[in-house]
Amino acid sequence: MMKTMPRFTFSLLFIFFFHCSTIVAQAPAPALSPGPAAPPDIYKILTKAGQFTVLIRLLRSTQVGNQINSQLSDSKSELTFFAPTDNAFSSLKTGTLNSLSDQQKVMLVQFHLIPSFISLTNFQTLSNPVQTQASNTYEFPLNITTSGNQVNMTTGLVNTSISGTVYSDNQLAIYQVEKVLQPLGIFAPRAPAPAPAPAAPKEKKKSAASKSPVASVDASGAVGVKRNGIVSIGFSLLLATIFL
Ligand SMILES: *[C@@H]1O[C@H](CO)[C@@H](O)[C@H](O)[C@H]1NC(C)=O
Ligand SMILES: *[C@@H]1O[C@H](CO)[C@@H](O)[C@H](O)[C@H]1NC(C)=O
Ligand SMILES: *[C@@H]1O[C@H](CO)[C@@H](O)[C@H](O)[C@H]1NC(C)=O
Repeated sequence: MMKTMPRFTFSLLFIFFFHCSTIVAQAPAPALSPGPAAPPDIYKILTKAGQFTVLIRLLRSTQVGNQINSQLSDSKSELTFFAPTDNAFSSLKTGTLNSLSDQQKVMLVQFHLIPSFISLTNFQTLSNPVQTQASNTYEFPLNITTSGNQVNMTTGLVNTSISGTVYSDNQLAIYQVEKVLQPLGIFAPRAPAPAPAPAAPKEKKKSAASKSPVASVDASGAVGVKRNGIVSIGFSLLLATIFL
């Protein structure tokens, strides 16, 4: 009889903290989904959605799909993925994909990935050019603009807009696009960026470092962090107390 007590208390505390964090965050938190659910699997999601067979093949051959899945197994990592349909690939000029090196194929897929979760209503908060997982924003610029509930994007070579949500769970968002996002860096390389004023080479290094994918994840994750901070710390302390 007594043995059931700690577990009961534990559950109550859990409920209490999740409840708190929901209220404090003032947004529906994913924490209320039952237990540590299996992380999303990009292959399964796209297969189930249909019309993404070329994309799935590309995700497999480049291994980027595996990287996405392993990133998603950490429940704190977030991704947004623009998924071009089979029609999008078939409207590319014949031989386009075959003309790319393995490295370019990897970059092409990574260009469709943003290292943070962006809900449909949050695109308006992004500043351009948006940092993707492919290289830097000079060679691989992606601009996103919104009007009403329309989300448009341009690479400088291709304009398209989100035509549907394939999947969204607060960790991963997959949006359907009807064109392959062709980055300048692969399909129309530009001359190198104009040389910075020769006086300040150190400054340049610093700002490049601050634009790492990790930094952008932190920055976008900052929404609600302030409000959640105290609860998170409390929660960690609670866990530490229970397990130590
Ligand atoms: C988005 O694109 C559509 C056409 O593709 C255009 O009519 C609309 O003005 C664009 N909106 C923005 C905000 O760029
Ligand atoms: C993308 O946005 C940046 C910053 O506003 C702008 O300088 C650049 O010309 C835009 N590129 C395209 C292709 O719209
Ligand atoms: C994309 O849209 C911009 C502004 O709306 C336009 O100037 C440009 O020509 C378009 N590019 C393509 C490839 O359609």
